[in-house]
Amino acid sequence: MIEENISLKKYNTFGIDATAHYFATFSTLNELSDHLELIPSSISSNSLLILGGGSNLLFTKDFDGLVLKNEIGGIEKIREDESYVYIKAGAGVPWHQLVMHCLQNNWAGIENLSLIPGNVGASPMQNIGAYGVELKDVFFELEAFHLKDKSVVTFTLADCEFGYRESVFKRKFNKQFVIVTVTYRLSKVPNFKTAYAAIDQELNKMGVSELSIQAISRAIISIRQSKLPNPSEIGNAGSFFKNPEIDQQQFDRLSKEFPGIIGFSLANERVKLAAGWLIEQCGWKGYRKEDAGCYAKQALVLVNYGHSTGAQILELSESIVKSVKSKFGIELEREVNII
Ligand code: FAD
Ligand code: EPU
Repeated sequence: MIEENISLKKYNTFGIDATAHYFATFSTLNELSDHLELIPSSISSNSLLILGGGSNLLFTKDFDGLVLKNEIGGIEKIREDESYVYIKAGAGVPWHQLVMHCLQNNWAGIENLSLIPGNVGASPMQNIGAYGVELKDVFFELEAFHLKDKSVVTFTLADCEFGYRESVFKRKFNKQFVIVTVTYRLSKVPNFKTAYAAIDQELNKMGVSELSIQAISRAIISIRQSKLPNPSEIGNAGSFFKNPEIDQQQFDRLSKEFPGIIGFSLANERVKLAAGWLIEQCGWKGYRKEDAGCYAKQALVLVNYGHSTGAQILELSESIVKSVKSKFGIELEREVNII
């Protein structure tokens, strides 16, 4: 059933009260096809929005098209060999539910990605990442429905062209596919990733003497809860901007002028800067204007204290971009999808 004039407030973690002109959910491919057949003729493919958990988008106005919420469920082990299990999950499965399922079965690889909000279907969109692991490290393949051809296409790891918070679905094939299932390759023998100093510190604090994927998950949950706002209490979509990458020479110049600058060396003489530090240095951390703010414990996260509009948050983000550009000469790029 396609409903009309539905509030999207409970469907986005920023808690923005925008209205969808048309709204429907689907939990099978057939249901999706049925909805697409019934689409009012006034709606073009550009006014279609595939929605997961709504944790990486900002509605800046009412949505004058059709919002289709993906609720395809199911977690299934489709094959295994000596070293790996292949787990296929429906796009509508909450990401953290999948992580918990894997931990219960001792399947390793996504424990560092514990507590990331959102659903399985969006995990390849921006190649979700945290604490030294990215989705691409465990990705096997996905199935996606092509909206124009009405066919299901399989994408391998190479097809997805994953990068830092990037994939073909965000760029070249933007708005062309609906991701319906994702298959992950998880390890039977864990390869613990604890290079982030914060993980070790937390494990020590917890008194963990024997490492396990369950302990790493608990440590990561605790770190995340200490610095990121819980969307059910304060509206947000995680990091609003990406961490910018610059070349080593530019980093050396900036380091002379700003000795505290935080950068992590990458391959090919590139350095990834901590955008949170840049924003904090511009004085934004803890800033609030009406209900739009910059989170006091993590400047990379913009927040809605209750009744902010998406336009107010977007305006705040633009002011932040301008001041970081003027102080450091660096252009911050948004991570959140602006709708
Ligand atoms: P949505 O917000 O619903 O959608 C995001 C985009 O993907 C939209 O453009 C949408 O149209 C598209 N989309 C969604 N599902 C599909 C589909 N099935 N087919 C095609 N297109 C689709 N991200 C990280 O990478 N690392 C983190 O550590 C992290 N921490 C976060 C912490 C908090 C508190 C919050 C609120 C967010 C955080 N995020 C993080 C961002 C967010 O959780 C992820 O980007 C997540 O994958 C978004 O999933 P979603 O289902 O909510 O996507
Ligand atoms: N920092 C500051 N001030 C701040 C915030 C951070 O100085 O206000 C400094 C910290 O002290 C630290 C550095 O910046 O030295 C990095 O901070 P943090 O470890 O909190 O991580 P981040 O770079 O801000 C990234 C991801 C997160 C992910 C964490 C952990 C991006 C855009 N963000 O944040 O992902 O959870 O690392 O791996 O890459 C998201 O994508 O929504 C997200 C939350």
